[in-house]
Amino acid sequence: MRLANKLAVVTAAASGMGRAGVEVFVREGAQVVAVDINEAALIDLAQAVGPAVRPLVADLTDLERCRSYIHQAAEMLGGIDLLWSHAGMPVDGRIEGLDMAEYDRSIMLNLTSSVLAAGEVIGYMRRRGGGSILFTGSTAGLVGSMASPVYSAEKFAVVGFTKSLAQRFAPDNVRVNVVCPSIANTPMKQGFIGASTDPEAFEKVLTASIPLGRFASAEDVANAALFLLSDEASFITGVALPVDGGFTAR
Ligand SMILES: NC(=O)c1ccc[n+]([C@@H]2O[C@H](COP(=O)([O-])OP(=O)(O)OC[C@H]3O[C@@H](n4cnc5c(N)ncnc54)[C@H](O)[C@@H]3O)[C@@H](O)[C@H]2O)c1
Repeated sequence: MRLANKLAVVTAAASGMGRAGVEVFVREGAQVVAVDINEAALIDLAQAVGPAVRPLVADLTDLERCRSYIHQAAEMLGGIDLLWSHAGMPVDGRIEGLDMAEYDRSIMLNLTSSVLAAGEVIGYMRRRGGGSILFTGSTAGLVGSMASPVYSAEKFAVVGFTKSLAQRFAPDNVRVNVVCPSIANTPMKQGFIGASTDPEAFEKVLTASIPLGRFASAEDVANAALFLLSDEASFITGVALPVDGGFTAR
């Protein structure tokens, strides 16, 4: 098993790629604290996957909660080896007439929640002689996104933070990477496409932009997360890995 005896924390764990990650991490031998704002979906996940999953409800737009959940998770598990800070949200594409409340909320969830979690988790990883941190970026954090400039800026920041932190934490034997999906088949994608004026046409255009001709599955991204978090990637740090069917290869 690729994560045998590892103690892992996953955020945005109750749906989509996070949920697929929890499932595959447990299958590979990890104990997982699954963090999400949606308590009912967390309970459903824990029932489906079994006792290796411990649910933890947290709203990661709350500054103090972004710190305290790490300590709570460490207590539940008896330490932390792996963190996948996956939580994030789409952002309205408008620049003129920007909604400042949504702007602040998105920076909090897409960037600050990961920054704070990294600052709290590093002490636990040092105590265990090392660890692995994974963030979730996006292809919009690797190339500009005309549709969503603010989201793109936030995800570029996550990539920059990853590369900086990888150097800072390397002496502690803690690796830091970021997985960068193109559009993935999850509820978040449904919301994003559904909000367009012609969802069917928009979905066709988006699909055509992917050389492999389809959207990512939640499992495509969870498998990349598994690799980057596992000891198989023990010499890989500071990497922004596109999981994008070739989208950024152009
Ligand atoms: N789906 C895509 O097309 C896509 C593409 C690239 C990157 N991403 C990134 O992937 C991540 C999540 O995407 P997904 O598609 O797996 O999402 P999803 O919509 O399937 O699930 C998101 C989860 O986050 C939880 N959540 C929402 N707000 C929260 C909060 N304030 N605190 C804690 N939990 C909260 C929800 O309850 C839900 O369980 C984000 O970082 C997103 O930017 C998504």
